[in-house]
Amino acid sequence: MKTIYWKDGQLCLLDQTLLPYEVEYLVCGTYQDVIQAIKTMVVRGAPAIGVAAAFAMALAELAGDDLDQAARKIKDARPTAVNLAWAVDRVLESDSILEEALKIYEEDQNTNRAMGKHGASIISDGDTILTHCNAGALACVDYGTALGVVRAAHQQGKNIDVICDETRPVLQGARLSVWEMQQEGIPVKLIVDGAAGRLMQEGEVDKVIIGADRVAKGGVANKIGSLMVALAAKRFGVPFYVAAPKSTFDHENSIYGIEIEERNPEEVLNFAGCCAAPLYTDVRNPSFDIVPSDLITGIITEKGILKPF
Ligand code: MRU
Repeated sequence: MKTIYWKDGQLCLLDQTLLPYEVEYLVCGTYQDVIQAIKTMVVRGAPAIGVAAAFAMALAELAGDDLDQAARKIKDARPTAVNLAWAVDRVLESDSILEEALKIYEEDQNTNRAMGKHGASIISDGDTILTHCNAGALACVDYGTALGVVRAAHQQGKNIDVICDETRPVLQGARLSVWEMQQEGIPVKLIVDGAAGRLMQEGEVDKVIIGADRVAKGGVANKIGSLMVALAAKRFGVPFYVAAPKSTFDHENSIYGIEIEERNPEEVLNFAGCCAAPLYTDVRNPSFDIVPSDLITGIITEKGILKPF
């Protein structure tokens, strides 16, 4: 099952807001439809929104829209993952936007498999791996980055167990990562975010592997909660890996200079559709953390395992 595909001049996106209860595709016929889908997290995850952005530019071109304006609006849809801007700039610099978007689409799938192969080398038979958010097939076209590594190790016959943080407020861990692991037949346990430290303290976690929205000088941006996991991993001596393709690398900025998306307070005030706090409570809802380089053991890429910079 693909998260994204292009068919008859339209972009089809697996609607991740409905998972795991309903498997339905949203069909986008305009670049504005794709922007809306990115903002509302119908499609989410750094590589997936990059691919969607490339196809959004193809839709803009097919409709004869102003490409500079479309590019600006698409890049603004979500600010933290660098893949959006990377994909938009790449298709704009190419000879054919649609052909380049299709290339990015293919590359994403090959990249994840290469990353999986490199990453599987650090996984031992019997390991328990903790992950945060969803850096799986659903965050990409398919296969996944962090969960791609898990998938590759499983396919090599290694016995592994996965622990997923639920990942409040949008529950990408509970709704998406757990579902993906169950589909693949990989043993998985769900924990609340606050339990990660406790399990590491008890020696129940052998490695942490997460994805990234941006890798830059000084560290990595990833889903809110990643920093607390990294700090606990350091304290209890658990190796902490980030799996990210080169398209997620930003060589121009310090990680501390990037914009961290603040999302709608409603995400925090509600839990799975139910009111979780008194109405009108003041809320902060930063969507991403910055994990400093000194907390990261290695960055698994399609080219091999790198040291953070
Ligand atoms: O807000 P989201 O769900 O788009 O955040 C996604 C993450 O933080 C992922 O861990 C990251 O994009 C890596 S996905 C391969």
